[in-house]
Amino acid sequence: MVDTAGSKEDGPSKSWPKPSLKFGVGLRRPHFDEIFDNHDGIDFLEIVSENFMEFGGRPQKVLQRAREMFPIIPHGVNMSIGGIDPLNETYLERLKKLIEQVRPPWFSDHLCYSSAFGVAYHDLIPLPFTEEAVSHLVQRIKRVQGMMGIPFLVENISYYAVMPSEMTEAEFTIEVITRADCGLLLDVNNVYVNARNHGYDARAFIDAMPADRVLQYHVAGHDASGPFLLDTHGEHIRQEVFDLYAYTLNKVGRVWTLLEWDNNIPTLETLLEENRKVRTTADRALAGEGEEEKGAKP
Ligand SMILES: [Fe+2]
Repeated sequence: MVDTAGSKEDGPSKSWPKPSLKFGVGLRRPHFDEIFDNHDGIDFLEIVSENFMEFGGRPQKVLQRAREMFPIIPHGVNMSIGGIDPLNETYLERLKKLIEQVRPPWFSDHLCYSSAFGVAYHDLIPLPFTEEAVSHLVQRIKRVQGMMGIPFLVENISYYAVMPSEMTEAEFTIEVITRADCGLLLDVNNVYVNARNHGYDARAFIDAMPADRVLQYHVAGHDASGPFLLDTHGEHIRQEVFDLYAYTLNKVGRVWTLLEWDNNIPTLETLLEENRKVRTTADRALAGEGEEEKGAKP
């Protein structure tokens, strides 16, 4: 487990974790019965924070058992860190309790908003890439990170609508991370999907990210059957994303990698097989295999 010691006063940056390469999957209800006996290749589990903050009973029992076997990373979807409503204090107190329970090295949510005027959208809505949005995010991320006392990783989302913006997505992401003094959960599939849909260079985006702030990756499947790419998290990872992941490992570093499969959740065996492909991709990339492909842009 990485060292995460740090007081509120010091802030997490004084003891910023240096993670090694580990592989994980999401702890999902269809696998509650099996995962404890069948977890070959799994080093850690990610949970959707809200699924365990608000429910007792079986999910809590499963979580306690899982915590005895694996590091657990809480990954939220409802914080709405970029939203215009005040931060939900009840939500934050519940998240803090969850963090105290599972003692993760960090926690994460998305660089977006998911509610406004008290209405939850149940979706991740992109922010305008503006100085105003950066300033708003920075003070809210600092507040949440200080309250939790461990690194807060914000994740780059996939998006289809582009808000009126003053800077690029990469510039916006860097500004937020560096000024908030927080971490980045770099979703490699989202970079690929956005780069294709919005016409930018995925590898240039990866190159620009502050590598020392990236503590975790996401890899996932997307639907490429239509005129634009759809980030579904509901199918196998496409080779183009494996290639970008291999590039990212060498460029950004060896950090915890989470296979996201949230829709059309497969059997545990299929999920473990996909995780083995992620591991094999990492092994080959770090051994220098596939160098000849690296010049090709997605
Ligand atoms: Fe993700």
